[in-house]
Amino acid sequence: MANIHPSVSAPPNTVRANAYIAPARVNLLGEHTDYTGGLVLPMAIPFYTQARITPATTGGYRFSSEIYPAATREISLSDQSPRIDDWSDYPVGVLHQLQMRGIRPSAFDLHLSGNVPFAAGLSSSASVEVATAYALLATANASLPLEEVSVLCRAAENEYVGSPCGIMDQFAIAAAKAGHALLLNTRTLEYDHLPMNQGDLSGTYIVVCNSMVKHSVASGEYGVRHREVMEGQEALLKKFPTLRDLGDATLGQLEAARADMPPESFLRCRHIISDNHRVLQAREAMFAGDPRALGELMLQGHSSERDDFACSCEEIDFLVDTAAALPGCYGSRLTGGGFGGCTVNLVDRAQSAPFSKALSDAYKKAFSIDAEIYICEPVDGAALRNTGGLHA
Ligand code: GLA
Repeated sequence: MANIHPSVSAPPNTVRANAYIAPARVNLLGEHTDYTGGLVLPMAIPFYTQARITPATTGGYRFSSEIYPAATREISLSDQSPRIDDWSDYPVGVLHQLQMRGIRPSAFDLHLSGNVPFAAGLSSSASVEVATAYALLATANASLPLEEVSVLCRAAENEYVGSPCGIMDQFAIAAAKAGHALLLNTRTLEYDHLPMNQGDLSGTYIVVCNSMVKHSVASGEYGVRHREVMEGQEALLKKFPTLRDLGDATLGQLEAARADMPPESFLRCRHIISDNHRVLQAREAMFAGDPRALGELMLQGHSSERDDFACSCEEIDFLVDTAAALPGCYGSRLTGGGFGGCTVNLVDRAQSAPFSKALSDAYKKAFSIDAEIYICEPVDGAALRNTGGLHA
């Protein structure tokens, strides 16, 4: 039986009083570009984290989660509370960041629930961070612009949880807009909402296919890739001191600095520079309402992630190759950090059901795994949902 979920573009109907919600995200193009000032093109999709906040019953801060009922965490109002390496580090990291900005909520109970697939490359952690940030801001009677919310949620992850992620996930989850993809410059945080309904693009769905595999190398390899990229960027900036970061660099400059960096760094940087370029081309394809051109860029993006960035795996390559050969599919690629997780597919609406079935049947046959398939339309991000506006 194929596990195919049609789009749920309505908000969850169980949103309670005092609950703040944040969606998940899928990225169309621009992967691993967001920690070197590059461009990304994600959108929010209809899976949600709900952060429900009520005045405290204990006199301190209490964090609980529907998913880990046995692991409630309590900290006192003045506690520095070092990280404890479980789910609660994400919301506690956000609290610390708010406190560092002088925002000190009084005692609360925060309860997290939701349906964002876990460890699937759809940003369940950023969804928790952003939902928590809006809940804590509300209880502290404070507000911050969405740019600052995104920055502090990323800082929670970098500085408290200890993961070297970029800004894409938190920003997309905060700033996305229904019916649109978000073009973000991760250096300047300038962004634009690009319509997904121009021309023939209006006849497509975003079909997300969860491979249900996450290779154990995933978290460690992200850090390795990050270091390889930074090494390449450093060599490049030494040779071309006027560059601010990889986001400015051309393939010609990279080639000229090739001998100054390890071969892996050259390949990782080549992926990033070419993906930045693809995001700009994707923008043109979207304004032209041309799903063929957009799909072709997605396929090129996948080859680059597979060959240059080396962050794909056998199961994901199978899903991409199979999808690309199916009727109605314009493009397919690995999305998110990599080494498993999900593919994102641009598919003709009329073909999306048979496409999903054929893809999951072929995958089951090859790997004996039931993929989960989510047929999505882009939804509003947390800033629009929780504050009614894109500038809180
Ligand atoms: C993860 C990180 C993001 C980004 C992607 C790859 O999702 O959290 O910051 O680097 O991987 O594009």
